[in-house]
Amino acid sequence: MPAAAAPPAIPSTASTAALTKPTLGFATLEREVVAHELPLAGELPRWLNGSLLRTGPAKFEVGEQRMRHWFDGLAMLHRFTIDGGRVSYGNRFLESRSYRAAREQGRIVYGEFATDPCRSLFKRVQTLFSPGNALPDNANVNVTRLGERFIAMTETPLPVQFDPETLQTAGVRPYKVPGQLSTAHPHMDRGTGAMLNYAAKLGPRSSYRFFRVDPHASESRVIGSLPVREPAYMHSFGLTERWLVLVEFPYVVNPLSLVLSGRPFIENYRWKPELGTRITLVDRATGKAVEGFQTDVCFAFHHVNAYDDGGEVVVDLCTYPDAGIIEDLYLDRLRAGKPVTPATLTRFRLGLADRSVSREQLADGSIELPRINYGRCNGRPYRYVWGNGNGADGWIGEIVKVDTTDGGRQVWSQPGCYPGEPVFVARPQAEHEDDGVLLSVVLDAAAGSSLLLVLDAADLSELARAQAPHHIPFSFHGQFASRIVPTTQDNR
Ligand SMILES: [Fe+2]
Repeated sequence: MPAAAAPPAIPSTASTAALTKPTLGFATLEREVVAHELPLAGELPRWLNGSLLRTGPAKFEVGEQRMRHWFDGLAMLHRFTIDGGRVSYGNRFLESRSYRAAREQGRIVYGEFATDPCRSLFKRVQTLFSPGNALPDNANVNVTRLGERFIAMTETPLPVQFDPETLQTAGVRPYKVPGQLSTAHPHMDRGTGAMLNYAAKLGPRSSYRFFRVDPHASESRVIGSLPVREPAYMHSFGLTERWLVLVEFPYVVNPLSLVLSGRPFIENYRWKPELGTRITLVDRATGKAVEGFQTDVCFAFHHVNAYDDGGEVVVDLCTYPDAGIIEDLYLDRLRAGKPVTPATLTRFRLGLADRSVSREQLADGSIELPRINYGRCNGRPYRYVWGNGNGADGWIGEIVKVDTTDGGRQVWSQPGCYPGEPVFVARPQAEHEDDGVLLSVVLDAAAGSSLLLVLDAADLSELARAQAPHHIPFSFHGQFASRIVPTTQDNR
């Protein structure tokens, strides 16, 4: 794929101070727009047609109340659609019940990740035993496609379906989750297109439950269940062709404290390093668990990939020394420009015969929000990881590509620019794992707005950038959906 010449810089209108601060990425965006054609510099590959759909926190104040943590912000959907070499854009708040209640009552009504609206004990008990009525559905973490349904997700068991063209919320729950906590990082079964995920069922006898949802189903089916006394906070899990991989970090919660403490959700978790890091494999076919893998303490949000390697299972994670990264992401700290702990690409090798665990750092430098060539490599041996690295100011300032075979690392960065998760899109009929593009929403602090950056995934050279009509608060995750091109006019 030929690399186009670097497009001209977008004119600056902001102060020099803004150049060095990513704080605009934590400012509320109220404006909802439909832009039929964004200013474009460079040239898009002819084969690239479809929509990058993303969700993320966008509203951090409700009335006089403020959200406390980056993960708390009310969700907004964003759509960058590439069609015939042009880029259109739309954004819209997710009409979750969390959002509707906040808008109608002018206050934070549902408890979020680290913000609690001081509910009564009755309400908190209701949350545990009747989650369908009391849990938030502020799906600001990830979007996924299940058959023809598009779904925004967070860590409560309340996925929100939406229209990928208009971004309107569908008003139906696409499927039921067998527990009170889940992840926004499901995996997809290569053969059937079914979604695989885990949930924590909380109660007097708590358990982890892996479950699957078929592409057109509204019910879930439990694959395997593991009893647990104090569930760990787990943001994602791994998948090989044979195993589901559960990595329990020693950041755990007594389920009763979620009800009785009166503290926000995440502030009930406790760091217990004496537990170590425990890994369990669950057979995808039988649901049978293989337990007893133990290694040094660490914490992670994101599994990168996993695969079977003879008598070993390889599990790659972006690891931190402990759960302090959660503290780093409180909004007061972020807006004060305090640095964020870097994550390291770490490989664990699990020996099936002797339950041994070896651990190896795969590359120097930091990497978070990892992406792979998922369609080709998920659950299989692979070579490349793309993600974000920390810049000199300690905040995400880089798009990186890591070669897991030799630790080689390539970097894209530009002064004053703060890129988000780079989503890999494979070129049709590609022969090589890294033949495709990366799509990343970048905050250009100097311009006071964001842009869609398109890089050649092989060498990180810039192909094109399209300027969005406003800043887009830093978001977490998104997916590229081929062939989703608006066919109707938006009615806003
Ligand atoms: Fe995530």
